[in-house]
Amino acid sequence: MYKQMQERYSKTTASMQHSFIREILKVTKGVPGMISFAGGLPSPESFPKILLAELFSKVIKQEGDDVLQYGASDGDLVFKHIIKDFEEVPYLSDDEIMITVGSTNGIYYFTRALIDPGDVIICEAPGFPGSLAAMESCGARVVGVEMDEYGMLPDGLRETIKALMKKDEQVKFVYLIPEFQNPSGRTMNCDRRRDIIKIAVEFDLPILEDQPYRELRFEGDRISTLWELARTEFNDPTLVTIAKSFSKILGPGLRLGFAAGPPEIITPMVKWAQKSTVSPDCVTQRVSARFIEQGHMQRQIQNIIDLYRPRRDAMIKALKTHMPESVRWTNPQGGMFIWVTFDEAVDTDDLFELAVKHKVAFIPGSKFYPKENIKKNELRLNFSYADPELIEEGISRLANLL
Ligand SMILES: Cc1ncc(COP(=O)(O)O)c(C=O)c1O
Repeated sequence: MYKQMQERYSKTTASMQHSFIREILKVTKGVPGMISFAGGLPSPESFPKILLAELFSKVIKQEGDDVLQYGASDGDLVFKHIIKDFEEVPYLSDDEIMITVGSTNGIYYFTRALIDPGDVIICEAPGFPGSLAAMESCGARVVGVEMDEYGMLPDGLRETIKALMKKDEQVKFVYLIPEFQNPSGRTMNCDRRRDIIKIAVEFDLPILEDQPYRELRFEGDRISTLWELARTEFNDPTLVTIAKSFSKILGPGLRLGFAAGPPEIITPMVKWAQKSTVSPDCVTQRVSARFIEQGHMQRQIQNIIDLYRPRRDAMIKALKTHMPESVRWTNPQGGMFIWVTFDEAVDTDDLFELAVKHKVAFIPGSKFYPKENIKKNELRLNFSYADPELIEEGISRLANLL
């Protein structure tokens, strides 16, 4: 009798779970009358379809000899230079930046480069399960540190590092989503960013800064990234590596992002890329380069902001109108998510089962916590993909279930 394929799985493969969020999307997709705030999707109305179609055709016709060929594992040089100009970091050397297949891919390579099985990564609790799963697939143990409205708590971070070090655990890096965080919508203020950097310096721990939502700011002043602060105020160009994405400003299907950090980390990340993707899609990189070069990106970002801001406003208004007094929620200045907190008695895993029967969906808060820190009385709402006409009805359905 031949062995079943499952019996041949590596231990890592055998222990891998399907993404709960993807499973939820299957349950809610296409159900007549369902109002879903569950997915973390950009609105298809935000995709610049005509412009991209024209550019794909033009790039293949005019630059096809180059871009249909195998490309560099660290990304297209033309695209890298255009990104450096767009991000106003022309001084970066080419070996301080690599193009990735979405930011997940950059986060995965960063983890691959630093983690041996059993090593620890510290993240925010709640955090983004996509990244946490990528980290765990490399054998990392992910430990969460609590947040307040300004992001990860510095005292919590210090205590957690000390406790782990006392147990001889190998803490390798701190992973942060400082702006319009997924799932909470919270933004870390500048003082908090400085405090966190100080702790990272004190314990000599690198930071991986994940910034896929930064451009989607509806109001308020821009705050320097941890990456910028480390370089300018702390005079340390090696402490922070930043992962960025074109998923929320151009389209996630393009699978494009980039990572910027010291050559000492970018180089091994590129080595991992050579062994898996070989290179990011060369056509898509050049199309995106031309899109930015021709000045479309600023307008594109403004269009998305104009599309999402009223949806955020409608959701906040509906929460104010329909939710009981005891319920609290974040009021994000951008991004795609609102985080709702109920009193301790509410279990949002149970609420989810009930909500789906009443044709409204969200993601229960428990899905955003590392195993050791799970909380049950919170949930995530997405406003970018929601039909603006149905936001109030959806929130009212949810409030009635409470
Ligand atoms: C915080 C965060 N990081 C990374 C990603 C992944 O983005 P990408 O499509 O670039 O892989 C997402 C996507 O939702 C996200 O919310």
